[in-house]
Amino acid sequence: MASGRICLWLLFMTITQVVGEDIQSMIMSLMIDSKFQCANTSCLPFINVFTSNIMNCQVACLTQSQCRAATFHRSTFNCELFDNMLNQNESILADIDAVSMNVISGTRFPSDQMTSTTTSSSTTTTTTGKLFKTSQVIEKRLCSLSSQSSWSQTATTIFGSQSGTPGSNLSFLSSPIGMYYDGFNNMLFVADSGNQRILQFSLDNSPSVAIVIAGSNGYGCNMNQFEAPYGIGVDSFGRLYVSDFYCSQVVIFPSNSNSTTSGTLFSSVGLATSISINPLTVSFDDDIYVVSYNDSAVYKFVGGNTTAMIAAGGNGNGYALNQLSGPVGAYYDYLYTNSLYVADSGNHRVLKFPSGSTNATYGTVVAGGNGAGSGANQLNYPRSIIVDSSGTLYIADTNNNRIQRWLPNASNGTTVAGGIPGTASDQLYFLETVLFDKYGNLLVSDRYNNRIQMFNLTTC
Ligand SMILES: *[C@@H]1O[C@H](CO)[C@@H](O)[C@H](O)[C@H]1NC(C)=O
Ligand SMILES: *[C@@H]1O[C@H](CO)[C@@H](O)[C@H](O)[C@H]1NC(C)=O
Ligand SMILES: *[C@@H]1O[C@H](CO)[C@@H](O)[C@H](O)[C@H]1NC(C)=O
Ligand SMILES: *[C@@H]1O[C@H](CO)[C@@H](O)[C@H](O)[C@H]1NC(C)=O
Ligand SMILES: *[C@@H]1O[C@H](CO)[C@@H](O)[C@H](O)[C@H]1NC(C)=O
Ligand SMILES: *[C@@H]1O[C@H](CO)[C@@H](O)[C@H](O)[C@H]1NC(C)=O
Ligand SMILES: *[C@@H]1O[C@H](CO)[C@@H](O)[C@H](O)[C@H]1NC(C)=O
Ligand SMILES: *[C@@H]1O[C@H](CO)[C@@H](O)[C@H](O)[C@H]1NC(C)=O
Ligand SMILES: *[C@@H]1O[C@H](CO)[C@@H](O)[C@H](O)[C@H]1NC(C)=O
Ligand SMILES: *[C@@H]1O[C@H](CO)[C@@H](O)[C@H](O)[C@H]1NC(C)=O
Repeated sequence: MASGRICLWLLFMTITQVVGEDIQSMIMSLMIDSKFQCANTSCLPFINVFTSNIMNCQVACLTQSQCRAATFHRSTFNCELFDNMLNQNESILADIDAVSMNVISGTRFPSDQMTSTTTSSSTTTTTTGKLFKTSQVIEKRLCSLSSQSSWSQTATTIFGSQSGTPGSNLSFLSSPIGMYYDGFNNMLFVADSGNQRILQFSLDNSPSVAIVIAGSNGYGCNMNQFEAPYGIGVDSFGRLYVSDFYCSQVVIFPSNSNSTTSGTLFSSVGLATSISINPLTVSFDDDIYVVSYNDSAVYKFVGGNTTAMIAAGGNGNGYALNQLSGPVGAYYDYLYTNSLYVADSGNHRVLKFPSGSTNATYGTVVAGGNGAGSGANQLNYPRSIIVDSSGTLYIADTNNNRIQRWLPNASNGTTVAGGIPGTASDQLYFLETVLFDKYGNLLVSDRYNNRIQMFNLTTC
C-alpha cells in the first residue's frame, strides 16, 4: 500500500549468541516492511548473504563487527548487511517484502571485539537469545490486502477428502480444528482432533502425505496422547503447544517431535480451546494466550511463565464488555494492531482488547453483537479470527458456514466465502480456523467436511 507502513515498532530485540566461550549480544530495533537504501553508492551493503530466515540475518550481522544495520528480503532470502550508514532512519524506504534492523548504538557487547567473519551455519553455534522465526514474521504477506481484495468462490481441497469423508491414514482427517502456518517452509500444522494427532504437511505440492508430529497413540491424557486436541501454536524456539479440550490441558512438544515423543505439561486450563502466540514482545520472550471455554476467559502466560494471568474475561459467563460467554477463539495480532481479538462465541460477537489487558479491561465489540443470526450485522457462533494489515477482520462465522470480512469500524460484514452448508467446493460445514498463507490465500479447517480448503486470492 502506498501509505508504506514504516512501522517503527522499536521492538528492542536482544540477540545473544554463544560462540564457543564468547557471549555476544546487541540490541536491534526492528522495522517491519522497510528496507535500507541510499540515493548514492556511499551506503551500499558491505556484504550480501542468503539466510533462511530473519533470525539468521540477525546472527549474520552479529558476527560482523562492522555491521550496523541489516535488511532481510522475504521473497529472495537476501540478507544485506550495512556498516557506515550515516543516518539509518533517513535511508529507510517502505517495502513490504523487507524487514530491517538497526543496531542501537553502544549496545554491542562485548563492544566490537568480534572479528570472526564466519556465519552461523559454518560454526557450531547455539543461539540462546530470543530470536523470532521468519515463519512468524512472514505471515505479513507479500500482498497487502485491502477492502478490494477478493478470493475465488470455489476452494481447492489441499488436504483431506474432497468429498468430506473422514479417514485416519496420512492423507485423511477427522474433525480438523486448529491450524498453524509456517510461511518459511510453506507448511501447515493441523490438529486432527478426531484422530487424536497433530499433522504437518507441505503446501508446495498438495495434496501431500502428512507426518505425525504429536499424538496418534490412542485416546487419553498422557503426555503422548490427546482426547480432543483443539488449538495449536509454535513458539520462537519451534516448540509446539497443543491445547486439549477434554483433557483441559496445554502440552508442549519439542521441535522435531514425532508420535513417539512425550510432551510436558505447560498448564491446566479448563476446556482449553485455541492458542495464540505473540513472539514479538519487548521482553523478548513469547507470550502464550490460551482460551478457556469453561472459565469464559483468555489466559496469558507472560514470557512462557506458567502462571496464568487473565487477558480477557474471567468475570463469569455474561454479556458485559468485561465478560465472555463460552469463547472458542483468540488471536493476538502482534503484526499490525497490537491487540487481542476474542471470538466470544456464545455472545455471537468479536471483542477487541488492547495490549496488556486484564480481567478489569472492557473490550470493544468489533463484529457482531446483534444476536445470533445470518444478517450482515450478525454472526452465529464465531470461532476464530485473523486480522490483515489494514485492521480488517476475517471471521470464521461457524454456524453460518461462512467467512465474514469486517472492515475497521464497520457495523456490517460481507461474506468472502461460503454461506451454505455442504460439501461442494463453494461450501463449508462448521469451519473452525481461518488463516492466510504467504500468498494471501485463505486456508480453512472445514471441520465437519474433514478437509482443509484453500480459497485462492484472486485480487490483491
Ligand atoms: C550519500 O548519501 C548519504 C546518505 O543519504 C549522505 O549522507 C551523503 O552525503 C551522500 N554522499 C554524496 C557524495 O552525495
Ligand atoms: C531514528 O529513529 C528512532 C525511532 O524513531 C529514534 O529513536 C532515533 O533517535 C533516530 N535516529 C536518528 C539518528 O535520527
Ligand atoms: C488413504 O486412503 C485412501 C483411500 O483408501 C487412499 O486413496 C490413499 O492413498 C491413502 N493414503 C495413504 C497415505 O495411505
Ligand atoms: C522420533 O523422534 C525420536 C527422538 O527424536 C527419534 O529417535 C526417532 O527416530 C523418531 N522416529 C521417527 C519415526 O522419526
Ligand atoms: C469448570 O468450572 C467449574 C467452576 O467454575 C469447575 O467446577 C469445573 O471443574 C470446571 N471444569 C473443567 C473441565 O475445567
Ligand atoms: C511467574 O509469574 C509469577 C506471577 O507474576 C511470578 O511471581 C514469578 O516470579 C514468575 N516466574 C518467573 C520464572 O518469572
Ligand atoms: C482480577 O484478577 C485479580 C488477580 O487474580 C483479582 O485479585 C481480582 O479480584 C480480579 N478482578 C475481578 C474484577 O474479578
Ligand atoms: C447492515 O445490516 C443490516 C442487517 O442485515 C441491514 O439492515 C443494514 O441495512 C445494513 N447496513 C448497511 C450500512 O449496509
Ligand atoms: C475507527 O474508530 C476509531 C475510534 O472512533 C478511530 O480512532 C479510528 O480512526 C477509526 N478507524 C478507521 C479505519 O476508520
Ligand atoms: C492457488 O494459489 C497457489 C499459490 O499461490 C497456486 O500454486 C495454485 O495454483 C492456485 N490454485 C488455483 C486453483 O488457482
